[in-house]
Amino acid sequence: MFWKSMNNYTKRTLNQFLKPKNRGKINNPDGVGMVGNPVCGDLMKVYIKVGKNKKREEMIKDIKFETLGCVAAVASSSITTELAKNKTLKQASKITKDEIVKGLGGLPREKVHCSILANQALKKAIDDYYSKLPASSAASAKSSARASAKTASAAGRKRGRSYAGKAF
Ligand code: FES
Repeated sequence: MFWKSMNNYTKRTLNQFLKPKNRGKINNPDGVGMVGNPVCGDLMKVYIKVGKNKKREEMIKDIKFETLGCVAAVASSSITTELAKNKTLKQASKITKDEIVKGLGGLPREKVHCSILANQALKKAIDDYYSKLPASSAASAKSSARASAKTASAAGRKRGRSYAGKAF
């Protein structure tokens, strides 16, 4: 049954599932985002470490994920970390679920919500980073990141509430 259902996935999705990139935990992360889907029970946690690029912009210098979930959930988490790594926080905030699905070469329609979950976890990690900064230094960047995160959260709410704040 399990192996039969694997036929529904692209080769890229299976590669990301079988050999996920950036799986694990970051000690002393600068931001953590956790989301879950109460319908399927899947949970995702994204950790980020923030640095500065040559232009002195804040960027994701390291990112890792822990996911308890389906093939699409693990693959979406993995590709999301690949898409976000070394991007500025502003760029990473704008990553869409369509980019995640495209990065996997497509997902079965009933599994697209898994990509939204991964996107939400990333946005929450970025938001968490901003929430820890002194208000004055984060104000403008924070509002732009929150605007992007709200878009992803709204899409995710259609499919289920988040588990933010609960122990993983
Ligand atoms: S089935 Fe729940 S995130 Fe994939």
